[in-house]
Amino acid sequence: MTVVVPPGVRQRTVAKARTLLEALPYMREHYGHTVVVKLGGSAMTDPKLAERLAEDVALLRLAGVRPVLVHGGGPQVTAMAERLGLPTRFVGGHRVTDAETLEIAKLVLVGGVNKTVTEALNRHGVPAVGLCGDDGHVLLARKRLGAGGEDLGFVGEVTSVNTGLLRHLMEVAVPVIASIATDGRGQSYNVNADLVASAVAGALSASKLVLMTDVPGVMQDGELVSELSVDEAEGLIAAGTATGGMIPKLEAVVEAMRHGVERAHIVDGRVEHALILELFTPEGMGTMVTRGEAPRGEGATQ
Ligand SMILES: Nc1ncnc2c1ncn2[C@@H]1O[C@H](COP(=O)(O)OP(=O)(O)OP(=O)(O)O)[C@@H](O)[C@H]1O
Ligand SMILES: [Mg+2]
Repeated sequence: MTVVVPPGVRQRTVAKARTLLEALPYMREHYGHTVVVKLGGSAMTDPKLAERLAEDVALLRLAGVRPVLVHGGGPQVTAMAERLGLPTRFVGGHRVTDAETLEIAKLVLVGGVNKTVTEALNRHGVPAVGLCGDDGHVLLARKRLGAGGEDLGFVGEVTSVNTGLLRHLMEVAVPVIASIATDGRGQSYNVNADLVASAVAGALSASKLVLMTDVPGVMQDGELVSELSVDEAEGLIAAGTATGGMIPKLEAVVEAMRHGVERAHIVDGRVEHALILELFTPEGMGTMVTRGEAPRGEGATQ
């Protein structure tokens, strides 16, 4: 029996198949690789976006990528601090964290944001397990001073990542890490989530670090900078082009590159399916940071 497919239907179905097949080289490139994705607090305030992200992570995992999620939650911590009448102060993109602010950050990030992300992933069929530094000492940290030597309170920097635990976990689930670390002796530290993601990516020898935020990427004179080398990223901090939360973000990508991560991307988490667009299409979103050797577009190998 001959089946006659109307030409319009055939065109549509062929176009769909082509779209899927266009992703093939990118799937091949990322298959079996670890990709660390950091979700910015601002990009997580919209519940619809959290759903889209969960779909993207489900697709990544089924395509053989090994995703690890790290999240911040700046706006959520600030909102809770305001409700409790505590002032918020940032120095060089780091939240000045006294004992009360630390308690709030831990409650909001570990008890709130972490569970929201983990729950959405599980509902989309992705087994996901939420962690903070205390869980299996996944993130050990020590106190970090501001760039000018200021005392920022309980702001930490990651000194070690329990990669053994993460690797075991990644066999069966997606780790979702909140940016609260511990000194291993009962003191917690609030660590900028970009720097946590960078430390995790470096420790796991991830091929990619994707920082999802609430701007299109790194902006300079009102324009998106689509590509940056490590030196240029450092230059933007020194020149004062990157301020506030963009300072630790650029430090994070520079550190990740120094620890062997091949590519880092700063992308707009407010765009639906930004993660899939970045990883599986030639479009390339936001700002890509390279060690300085490869131009955009050379990423996909056939
Ligand atoms: N040159 C720049 N280009 C783009 N954004 C910049 C620049 N300089 C400063 N910024 C600021 O950096 C912000 C992003 O960092 P921010 O810490 O606020 O968010 P996040 O890191 O995505 O979320 P969270 O801190 O909750 O993890 C932008 O909203 C913007 O205001
Ligand atoms: Mg930030």
